[in-house]
Amino acid sequence: MKTNDLNDFGQKIEKKIDASRKMKIGIIGTGWISEYHIIAYLKQPDVEIVAAADLIPGKAEAMMKKHGLTDVRYYPDHHAMLEAEELDAVSVCTYNATHAECTIDALEHGVPVLLEKPMSVTLDEAVAICRAEKKSGKIVSVGFQPRFDENMKMIKKIVEDGALGKVYYIQTGGGRRRGIPAPFGDSFLRKETAGLGALGDIGCYSLDMVLNAIGYPKPLTVTGYKSDFFGKNPAHSNQPQYADIFSVDDFGAGFIRLEGGVIVDFRIAWAMHVDTPGDTILFGTEGALRIPSTECWNGTVGGEMTLYHDVAGTQTETKIPILTTRESLFDLKIRSFLDAVKNGTPAPVPTSQILYNQAIIDGISRSAEAGHEVKIEIPEI
Ligand SMILES: NC(=O)c1ccc[n+]([C@@H]2O[C@H](COP(=O)([O-])OP(=O)(O)OC[C@H]3O[C@@H](n4cnc5c(N)ncnc54)[C@H](O)[C@@H]3O)[C@@H](O)[C@H]2O)c1
Repeated sequence: MKTNDLNDFGQKIEKKIDASRKMKIGIIGTGWISEYHIIAYLKQPDVEIVAAADLIPGKAEAMMKKHGLTDVRYYPDHHAMLEAEELDAVSVCTYNATHAECTIDALEHGVPVLLEKPMSVTLDEAVAICRAEKKSGKIVSVGFQPRFDENMKMIKKIVEDGALGKVYYIQTGGGRRRGIPAPFGDSFLRKETAGLGALGDIGCYSLDMVLNAIGYPKPLTVTGYKSDFFGKNPAHSNQPQYADIFSVDDFGAGFIRLEGGVIVDFRIAWAMHVDTPGDTILFGTEGALRIPSTECWNGTVGGEMTLYHDVAGTQTETKIPILTTRESLFDLKIRSFLDAVKNGTPAPVPTSQILYNQAIIDGISRSAEAGHEVKIEIPEI
């Protein structure tokens, strides 16, 4: 199978990396996801992890030592690290509630940021990140590793190829029957650390999958819904021990109008009494694309996609073969960020796009709380 990293003869294309100078990397927040960043950085020949910060004493040391790193300086929070170090880049791997403050502080210290998803909790925070980025002249790339999956890229290629004509309606979303996450504690489940539940955690992925494919039109209005029937109910939660502290959404839905006359009908669940809230379908004037339901976090499509179109007047279904992505999505996410920093090129997953993703999530939350449709107003950056 031919993928982007093979030449016409099926040989792997070796990418040359200039390792004459090692980039100095700092890790902010050393919980679950930081480990994936560390493993990916350690594979890069032009990088050294020199500093790490975490609010919990001893946590950063334990994480680095687990990966054989002994020559790292440790700090009790992001600010102390940014004040003391001369860094080429940082990964912000904190829980959602501190994404904005850590990212803005790094930018104010002139340091580019690889920021874990979701971009922030609120639209106001996302706007503040974009403004700080613009002012600093440094990049922020948001950590959507599914962007590097060949099947995800194929969705965008199919749209750009014109196979669907004008896309006018999209149903998307995903989730799992019982999958409230608490991998290493309760930071996903508390409002003060996560800020958002399923909406922010996995909703941002399904929105990105379709919005990236159609070029991220600006969102205009949204009618939103969110609930917490599973997380708060020990009888139905897969994390019953946390039912008392559960304070975010476990299901969210939205009906979103985008510029250019596109509607997105979206739903996302950490938990529900059904296996899937449905496949993703892009409806276009010339064709439709069905993408089997995905759990979202794992970065690829749920199975073979189907293109529905008319061929010589006959209703036809074309199966899109599953493509293989040869490198780990995390390696590709880290490498693309490092290359952009080194080469002074735009962020691979730019905040100018993810701002709209965050605006939709924020709109769903606001609309759900208000009980009616709300306008999405995004200020000038
Ligand atoms: N891309 C992915 O596939 C993926 C997967 C899981 C989680 N995530 C995202 O990664 C982020 C972190 O998730 P996690 O599971 O690792 O959370 P976690 O709770 O395990 O770790 C977060 C750590 O950040 C630390 N922290 C918070 N604020 C800090 C600050 N100001 N300075 C220094 N340290 C600080 C906390 O003490 C904690 O140890 C979340 O935003 C989550 O959405 C992404």
